[in-house]
Amino acid sequence: MNTSSSRHAILLACLLWTIIRNTSTLTIRCNPYDKQALLNFKHRLFDPSNILSSWSTQHDCCQWKGVTCHNITSRVTQLTLPCSATYPSYRDKKDKSHCLTGSIYLSLLLLELQFINYLDLRNNDFLDIQFDYSQHSLDSHNNLSVATPPLPRRSLNSSTLRLLDLSLNENLAINSLQWLSNLSSLEYLDLSNIDLYKETNWLQLVTTLHSLSTLFMQSCELQDISSSLQYANFTALELLDLSENEFNSEWPKWLFNLNCSISGLGFGFNSLKGPLPEAFLNFRQLEYLDLENNNLDGPIPYWLGEFQVLQILNLGINMFSGSVPTNLGNLSSLTELDVSSNNLSGIVSQKNFVKLSKLKSLWICSSSPSLIFDFDSHWIPPFQLEELCISFAGPKIPVWLYTQRSIERLNIWESSFETQGKFWNFVSRLTGELDLHGNSIDGNLTNVLLNATYIDLSSTGLKGSLPRLSPNVAVYDLSNNSLSGDISSLLCDQKTLNEKTNLVYLDVSVNHLSGGLTNCWKNWKSLVSVNLGSNNLTGHIPTSMGLLPNLTSLHLHENKLYGEIPPSLQNCHSLLIFNVRENILSGNIPNWIPHGLKALQLRSNSFSGNIPVEMCQMSSLIILDIAHNTISGYIPNCLGNITTLVFNNASRNTLSFSANIIGNRMLLIDDNLELVTKGQESEYGSILHFVTLLDMSSNNLSGTVPPQLFSLTGLISLNLSHNKLTGKIPNEIGNMKKLESLDFSRNQLWGEIPESLSSLSFLSYLNLSYNNLTGKIPLGTQLQGFSEFSYIGNHDLCGTPLTKLCSQGAKSKDTKGGSESEFLSWFFIGIESGFVSGFLGVCCAIFLNKKWRHTYFKFLYDLRDRIYVMVVIKINSFCQTGQVA
Ligand SMILES: *[C@@H]1O[C@H](CO)[C@@H](O)[C@H](O)[C@H]1NC(C)=O
Ligand SMILES: *[C@@H]1O[C@H](CO)[C@@H](O)[C@H](O)[C@H]1NC(C)=O
Ligand SMILES: *[C@@H]1O[C@H](CO)[C@@H](O)[C@H](O)[C@H]1NC(C)=O
Ligand SMILES: *[C@@H]1O[C@H](CO)[C@@H](O)[C@H](O)[C@H]1NC(C)=O
Ligand SMILES: *[C@@H]1O[C@H](CO)[C@@H](O)[C@H](O)[C@H]1NC(C)=O
Ligand SMILES: *[C@@H]1O[C@H](CO)[C@@H](O)[C@H](O)[C@H]1NC(C)=O
Ligand SMILES: *[C@@H]1O[C@H](CO)[C@@H](O)[C@H](O)[C@H]1NC(C)=O
Ligand SMILES: *[C@@H]1O[C@H](CO)[C@@H](O)[C@H](O)[C@H]1NC(C)=O
Ligand SMILES: *[C@@H]1O[C@H](CO)[C@@H](O)[C@H](O)[C@H]1NC(C)=O
Repeated sequence: MNTSSSRHAILLACLLWTIIRNTSTLTIRCNPYDKQALLNFKHRLFDPSNILSSWSTQHDCCQWKGVTCHNITSRVTQLTLPCSATYPSYRDKKDKSHCLTGSIYLSLLLLELQFINYLDLRNNDFLDIQFDYSQHSLDSHNNLSVATPPLPRRSLNSSTLRLLDLSLNENLAINSLQWLSNLSSLEYLDLSNIDLYKETNWLQLVTTLHSLSTLFMQSCELQDISSSLQYANFTALELLDLSENEFNSEWPKWLFNLNCSISGLGFGFNSLKGPLPEAFLNFRQLEYLDLENNNLDGPIPYWLGEFQVLQILNLGINMFSGSVPTNLGNLSSLTELDVSSNNLSGIVSQKNFVKLSKLKSLWICSSSPSLIFDFDSHWIPPFQLEELCISFAGPKIPVWLYTQRSIERLNIWESSFETQGKFWNFVSRLTGELDLHGNSIDGNLTNVLLNATYIDLSSTGLKGSLPRLSPNVAVYDLSNNSLSGDISSLLCDQKTLNEKTNLVYLDVSVNHLSGGLTNCWKNWKSLVSVNLGSNNLTGHIPTSMGLLPNLTSLHLHENKLYGEIPPSLQNCHSLLIFNVRENILSGNIPNWIPHGLKALQLRSNSFSGNIPVEMCQMSSLIILDIAHNTISGYIPNCLGNITTLVFNNASRNTLSFSANIIGNRMLLIDDNLELVTKGQESEYGSILHFVTLLDMSSNNLSGTVPPQLFSLTGLISLNLSHNKLTGKIPNEIGNMKKLESLDFSRNQLWGEIPESLSSLSFLSYLNLSYNNLTGKIPLGTQLQGFSEFSYIGNHDLCGTPLTKLCSQGAKSKDTKGGSESEFLSWFFIGIESGFVSGFLGVCCAIFLNKKWRHTYFKFLYDLRDRIYVMVVIKINSFCQTGQVA
C-alpha cells in the first residue's frame, strides 16, 4: 500500500514537473477572448491564399502569424499583417491577388481586442472600412463565438491603439474619417495611397487626435488643405507628410501655428503656390523639409540658413528665382540639398558650401542658364558627395568634380563640354549611375571601360567605337549618337565574357554600327530589352538570341538583316515586343510566336506565305503590323478571337514593363514603336498607350474581309489597303466604335458604303479610294467631312464630297441630316488631329533613384523596420517635360 502510494506520489510529481516544464517553455499563453476576437477578425475578411493558415485553434494564438502578445500579461498587443506585393509591370497594378481583401471591421476589432495598440495592415487589398457600433450584432451570426463567453462590453473611446497603418491599400476608398475621433490614443497614422477624395473634412478630424505625432497622408487625392483655417489642434505633431496630393492654394495659416518642435514636413508633388513665408522660422528644429515639385516662387530665403539641424532640404522643380543664398552654406547638418529645376540666377561658388561637410547629395541642375558657376580652380570641397546632379555652361568641367571619390550617381544635364581622358577615367570609376544623356559631349569613347550599373549616354553626339562594359553594367543606353564600328567589339569582348554579366537593358539604336548580330548572345542571358535599330547591321538573326530567357522587347528595325526568323526565338517566353520593321527578312510569318506577345511588327520586309492561324491565339496582342510584305491567301476568320483587340482595356495596353537589376533595384521601361496610322507615321509609346492597331496593307491578301474582323471593337486603327480583297463592307463595321483610322483603299471591294460607318464618331481618317464601291455616300454625317480623296477611284460612287452627282435613281441614304451631328463630327476631327500633332514619343528608362526620397523619409523616421521596399514611381523630369511638350 505504502509503496504504491509513494509510487503514486512520485508519478504525480513527475507529471507536475512535466507540466511546469512545458509551461515554462511556453511562457506565453493565449487569452481566450483575444483568440476569439482574432478568429472573428479572420472570418470577416477574405484570405484568398490562406495567409492566416497558422491561425488555427490548435496553436497558441500568440504564435500566430502577425500576432504579438505582451510578454507578461499575454494579451494581444500587436497585429502586423502587411502583404508583400510588387509591381509586375509598372503601369499595371500590383498583383495583390494573394493579399487580404474584403472589409476591415475596425470598430469590432478594436472592441474585441482590448489591448491592441499596434495595427498594421499595409499593402493589402482591402476595399472598405466598417466603423459602426451597430455592427457589433454581427457576432451573433458568427457561430464561432458560441465556444467562448460573450466579450465584455467596453467603449471604443478607451481604445488603446497607438499605431494604425492602412497605407498602400490602393483600392480602398474612405468616404468619411469620422471614426478617427474614437481613436484618441493614436500616435502614428499612415493612410497613404488611400483614396480620401470624398472626405473634405479630413483635417478637422485628424486634429481631434491629440496624441498624434506622425501623420502620413501621401497620395490620398486630398484637395483642400483648409488654407484659411487659423489653427489646427495638432499638439504633439512631429512629422507631417502630405506629399502627392492636389493642394493648389497658398500656404495654409494653420501650418505656422503648429508646435515648433516639428521635425519633418513633406509637401512635395502638390501645386502649392506663393513664396516661402518667414513664419517658417518657427520650425528651426526641422530636420526634413520637402517642397519638391510645387509652384512656389519668390527667392530662396536667406533665413533658411538658420535651420541648424536641417538634414534634407528639397526645393527642386519649383519657380524660385534670384540667387542661391550663401547662408545655405551654414547648414552644417545638411546631407541633401536640391534646388534643381528652378529659375535661379546669379553666381554659385565655394561660398555656398562653406560648412556643408556632411553633404551627400547635391542637385543643382537645370536651374536656368543664368545661374553661373564660379569656383576657384583650387577649391577642395568640404564634402564627399554620393549623388550629384549638375548643369554648367561649358566647355570646362568644374575641376572640383575630380575631388569627389565617393560619387555613386552622376547626372549632368543640359550642358555642353569637352572631355579628355581625365573625365572618362573619373567616370569609369563610378559604379552606380552615370547619366549624361542629352548633353553635347565632345569626346571619343574608344578604349573606355565603363563600370556603372546604369549608363545613359544617349543623344550626346559621341563618336568612336562602342565603349566596353564591365560585368557590373545592367543598363546601357548609347542610342542616338555617332558611334561606329562592329557591334561584336561590344558583344563578343573576351574580357567581359569570362565573367557573369548582368546586362538587362541594351540600347545602341540610331548609330552607325555595322557587322552581324554575332553569336555571342549566350553570354548576355540576363537581357530583358534589346534595341539595335537604325544601324547598318547585316546578316541573319542569330539562333543564339533564343538563349535569352527573359527577353521582353527586341527591336532590330531599320537594318539590313536578311534570312528567316530563327525558330529558336520561341524559347523567349517572355517576349512582349518584337520589331524587325524595315529589313530584308523573308520566309513565312512564324507560327510559333509566343502567345503573350503584345506587339508584332514585321512591316516592310519580304515575308511571304499565309497569315498563320496560330496568330489568333496571341490573346494579348495590341499591335499587329505586317504591312509591306508579299503575304498572300485569306485573312483568317479567327483573328476576331484576339480578345485584347475586342475589349481594348486601355490600362493594360501599354508597352511598359519592368525588370529587376542587380542591387535589388527595379528598372521601369516605357517602350515605343513607330507606327503608321491615319496615313502618317507617328511614334507610339507612353502617350498613345491606348493604340490598338491592325495593319496588313500592301500585301497580296485576297478573298473577302471576314466579318469576324469587325468584331474587334477595341481596334483604333485598321489598314487593309493595297491588297486584292473583295466583297462588301459589312454593316457590322458600325460596331467598331473606337475606330479612328480606317483604310481599305486599293482593293476590289464593291457594294454600297454601309450607313453604319457614319456612326463611328471618332473616325478622323478614312480612305476607301480605288475600290469598286457604288451608290451614294451616306449623307448628313461626318462622311462628308472627309475630302474627295477618301472616295475617288470608285467609278459608281456619287454624292458629296465627290463632284459626281447622284442620279435620281440612286438610293438616298439621307436620314436625319442634323447640323448637330455634323458639328460633333468636326469637333471630334478637331480633337483627333490635335492629338496626333501634339504627340511626342519618349522612351524613358527610369531608374528609381533619389525620387524614392519620400519613401526614404519614412525609412528614416519610421518607428519600425520596413521589411520590403515600396515602389514609388516618379518619372524623372526629362520624361515629364518630354511628355508634356
Ligand atoms: C518584456 O518586454 C520588454 C520590452 O517590451 C522588455 O524590456 C522586457 O525585458 C521583457 N520581459 C521579459 C520577461 O521578456
Ligand atoms: C458554423 O461554422 C462552420 C464552419 O465555419 C460551418 O460549417 C457551419 O455551417 C456553421 N454553422 C452554422 C449554424 O452557421
Ligand atoms: C482647437 O481646440 C480649441 C480648444 O481646445 C477649440 O476651441 C477649437 O475649436 C479647436 N479647433 C479645431 C479646428 O478643432
Ligand atoms: C566595377 O565595380 C565593382 C563594384 O561594383 C568592382 O568590384 C569592380 O572591381 C569594378 N571593376 C572595374 C573594372 O573597375
Ligand atoms: C577615337 O579614338 C581612337 C583612338 O583612341 C581613334 O583611332 C579614332 O580615330 C577616334 N575616332 C574619332 C571619330 O575621333
Ligand atoms: C530572369 O528573370 C528572373 C526574374 O527576375 C530572374 O530570377 C532570373 O535570374 C533571370 N534570368 C537570368 C538568366 O538572368
Ligand atoms: C553600311 O555597311 C556597308 C558594308 O557592310 C558599307 O559599305 C556602307 O557604307 C555602310 N553604310 C553606312 C551608312 O555606314
Ligand atoms: C475562336 O473562338 C471561337 C468561339 O469562341 C472558337 O469556337 C474557335 O475555336 C476559336 N478559334 C481559334 C482558332 O481559336
Ligand atoms: C465592279 O462591280 C461591278 C458590279 O457591281 C462588276 O460588274 C465589275 O466587274 C466590278 N469591277 C471590278 C474591277 O471588280
